[in-house]
Amino acid sequence: MVVVENLTKKFKGTLAVDRLNMEIPEGEIYGFVGANGAGKTTTMRIIAGLLAPTSGRVLIDGIDVSKEPLKVKERMGYMPDFFGVYDDLKVSEYMAFYAGLQGIYGAKCIELTHSLLELVRLTHKKDAYVDTLSRGMKQRLCLARSLIHDPEFLILDEPASGLDPRARVEMKEILKELRSMGKTVLISSHILPELSELCTSIGIIDAGRLVASGSVANITEKLSQSGLIKIKVAEKEEEAVKILMEMPEIAELSSVAGVLEVKVNGGEDVYVRILKTLVGNEIPVVSFHPEESSLEAVFMKLTEGGDQNEN
Ligand SMILES: Nc1ncnc2c1ncn2[C@@H]1O[C@H](COP(=O)(O)OP(=O)(O)OP(=O)(O)O)[C@@H](O)[C@H]1O
Ligand SMILES: [Mg+2]
Repeated sequence: MVVVENLTKKFKGTLAVDRLNMEIPEGEIYGFVGANGAGKTTTMRIIAGLLAPTSGRVLIDGIDVSKEPLKVKERMGYMPDFFGVYDDLKVSEYMAFYAGLQGIYGAKCIELTHSLLELVRLTHKKDAYVDTLSRGMKQRLCLARSLIHDPEFLILDEPASGLDPRARVEMKEILKELRSMGKTVLISSHILPELSELCTSIGIIDAGRLVASGSVANITEKLSQSGLIKIKVAEKEEEAVKILMEMPEIAELSSVAGVLEVKVNGGEDVYVRILKTLVGNEIPVVSFHPEESSLEAVFMKLTEGGDQNEN
């Protein structure tokens, strides 16, 4: 269980993280979404114990990260958004080097390297020099490295950035495997739909503040305060318009090619009321389609006014 309490980080003149509160229960895949410069990396580095917060604290299984960093690091793997340079190391040597840092040698090291390279689909590259790997492969190698000490909790900073569509799908498959292994994962992205199908929960950060959090469905519902419903009636269109206009929940109504487009204030309970009212008044409703509020739209809405151009 990861608990972030009132986390704040100030750099000279920049408030990168602003009183952020977050809870990640065990086994959760928590998607951390925000635009460039929103504060994702800063938050993740603080959680990983690599950066000291200005105020606030992070608890991992009740242990304060800044007080007992070594104890916490045993339980956690961190995959940064930037990879360093590798000197003349082959993939298997690279893994052996990091395994050695954890006190894993010999047959155990070979076995672990084998299974981790399998997991990240890099077995065929085990004798290749790290420098010659593609970006996506380096990313997967870095993920394998972060798994060497079998951490329960993984922090992955934009693991899918810069990957081609196929590599993204592969990365998703790997993450699904991690999920089935029971790992708790905090994963960031600036693309919300990318995370929505993979994650159990989502937190949206904007200018250092967590502006929404919860399950994907929950967030969408919370923010779909003004939905659009497309209603088609077999006849009595004028009567339907009249009935709808009398309902206080209807914000706007227009008729496009025989389909009524109704903007409503409120969520699903209001949709139910509208349909009931129409049917109760014997309007022959042929179809009733609430538009799925796109997560992308939600995200734009959440970050409007934020500085999108900062990098
Ligand atoms: N070491 C630093 N010194 C000064 N300012 C910093 C430092 N690191 C980050 N910042 C600032 O903090 C803010 C948040 O940056 P951060 O890297 O956390 O954003 P991010 O959400 O990870 O963005 P991206 O999607 O581009 O990776 C930015 O305004 C950035 O310029
Ligand atoms: Mg970042």
